[in-house]
Amino acid sequence: MEQLGRVLCIITGASRGFGRTVAKEMARLVKPRSVFIVVARSGDELRTLKAELAESDLEVRCVVVDLSLTEAPEMVVRAAKEASSPDIEHLILVNNAASLGDVSRFTKSFTSMAEVNAYLSSNVSSALCLTASVLQAFPEQSGLRRCVINISSLCALKPFCSWVLYCTGKAAREMMFKVLAEEEPDLRVLNYAPGTRETVPRSNGTRTSLLKHRQFSMRRSTIRTCLRCLVRSLGKIRTSSRCYRPSLALYRVALWG
Ligand SMILES: NC(=O)c1ccc[n+]([C@@H]2O[C@H](COP(=O)([O-])OP(=O)(O)OC[C@H]3O[C@@H](n4cnc5c(N)ncnc54)[C@H](OP(=O)(O)O)[C@@H]3O)[C@@H](O)[C@H]2O)c1
Repeated sequence: MEQLGRVLCIITGASRGFGRTVAKEMARLVKPRSVFIVVARSGDELRTLKAELAESDLEVRCVVVDLSLTEAPEMVVRAAKEASSPDIEHLILVNNAASLGDVSRFTKSFTSMAEVNAYLSSNVSSALCLTASVLQAFPEQSGLRRCVINISSLCALKPFCSWVLYCTGKAAREMMFKVLAEEEPDLRVLNYAPGTRETVPRSNGTRTSLLKHRQFSMRRSTIRTCLRCLVRSLGKIRTSSRCYRPSLALYRVALWG
């Protein structure tokens, strides 16, 4: 295994759900003494994860912070710098943290700029500023492969009634990482949408994701697919200057060419 080499991996939203499982699955693919920086607001959950990951001979740091705060990128970068070592081969940033927002209301009810700004700050600005800060702190250098993953959604492409905040945020993030891929030829950029596979009927006859009802648990196979894409494309790093191909019709995965 150890397909990802010695890694500095930063995962936002690692306290539960997809991010937590990504951390555990990723730990199986890295060399000992790799560094994991796990980020979320729930300190207890992060510390439990840290204890589980530490069994794999990893250096794990928890950054307990609300990513919408202006100091969050600096806190994450500081932890990464402190824990990092010169023999790190891969930098992997997983922008996974996200929130659903209020999905009980339609677009015309969002008259409060403060409310909308708060959502976009937490879900869009935070991902941009964290990514920029990490890329500045760990610039391009020989021997270091750099990779940024954005956990996206079908909602980045398809409108869903009453999901205006979530759809807007996911669409903005998706474009943000496409631009980044155009700008940074050395960087691998993956927009990965796990997919809302499991749905329940709503009272009005349409269907809605179980995500809304908090009953959804990500299948491990979904996470493995994401990591397989990562591993496959890391092997191609020096042969391709074009690092992003827009999502395919099915919108499962954006694969690198
Ligand atoms: N579940 C699905 O059906 C589905 C489908 C498509 C895409 N996705 C995407 O997959 C990703 C993970 O989804 P999930 O279902 O695992 O979500 P989840 O269970 O709600 O977990 C979200 C994670 O993000 C963290 N987080 C949220 N806001 C934060 C903030 N302001 N600061 C710091 N951490 C924050 C949460 O931690 P704390 O609360 O501890 O801060 C938590 O660890 C998201 O990007 C989501 O949009 C999910």
